[in-house]
Amino acid sequence: MSTNQILILAFAAIGLVGALAVASVALRRGTDTEPITGVTDRKAMRRDRKRRRAQAAPEMPAATAPDHDEPAPIDPITQRQEVGPEEYGVTRRQFFNRGVAGIFGLFMAQMGIFSLGFMWPRIKAGGFGSKVAAGKAEALATQVFLPDGRVSPLFVPAAQAYLVPFQGDMAGSSFEGLPVVAGGLMALWQRCVHLGCRVPQCDASQGFECPCHSSKYNYHGEYEGGPAPRNLDRFVVEVDDSGQFIIDTGQVLQTSRASNKTAVYPQGPSCI
Ligand code: FES
Repeated sequence: MSTNQILILAFAAIGLVGALAVASVALRRGTDTEPITGVTDRKAMRRDRKRRRAQAAPEMPAATAPDHDEPAPIDPITQRQEVGPEEYGVTRRQFFNRGVAGIFGLFMAQMGIFSLGFMWPRIKAGGFGSKVAAGKAEALATQVFLPDGRVSPLFVPAAQAYLVPFQGDMAGSSFEGLPVVAGGLMALWQRCVHLGCRVPQCDASQGFECPCHSSKYNYHGEYEGGPAPRNLDRFVVEVDDSGQFIIDTGQVLQTSRASNKTAVYPQGPSCI
């Protein structure tokens, strides 16, 4: 499984977990079985009191002394009255919680969609992160040599890789047993293994020399000097039935600094 496929699955899993979390919060908030109680606010109480007084006023005899046997009127502010769930409706807390859960759910959904949209074209188009067909292996092999027999790495933009001929002895090398050579070619990732700068080739020295911190590699991508911790990384390659040279950019192979070099470096002055 390629790195991009693993990333997609990870994002999908995160999105799913987020959606489940939102759904569980929303459902829990939405199915409260406890009766909702509350108190009416003071303004409503005052309005009710005024209304009751207005209704009662015409019935009062104009000059009648107050009846001391009547019970004292109930003060609606101190004697608060509970209301049922139908009267009260959705509480402010419920409204706020549902709003937050909804916004969070929308945010997670957008994140998931944008992440998939960002990565999807790369996978679909057979670009970096998947298998890249670089061309007929035989034709490619003829392009990586200069007329004087020296090596001229061929850059394949879709794979971010240099094609180089492998002319050394695999036995005892840092590549022994790895599927990094096919049709006499290797595919080196252009990215410096120190801090990731793009490493250009140097025709004069017959190697790769990083302009950032001066790491150097021979044309097989084997470590020759500088702060780089290992050889240049390379991709798994194969020649398919139709003779196409396939670079699997989803499978990056790392190898430790070569103690047994398979290419001579330098063969001329350095470029940096
Ligand atoms: S990034 Fe290449 S040597 Fe530091």
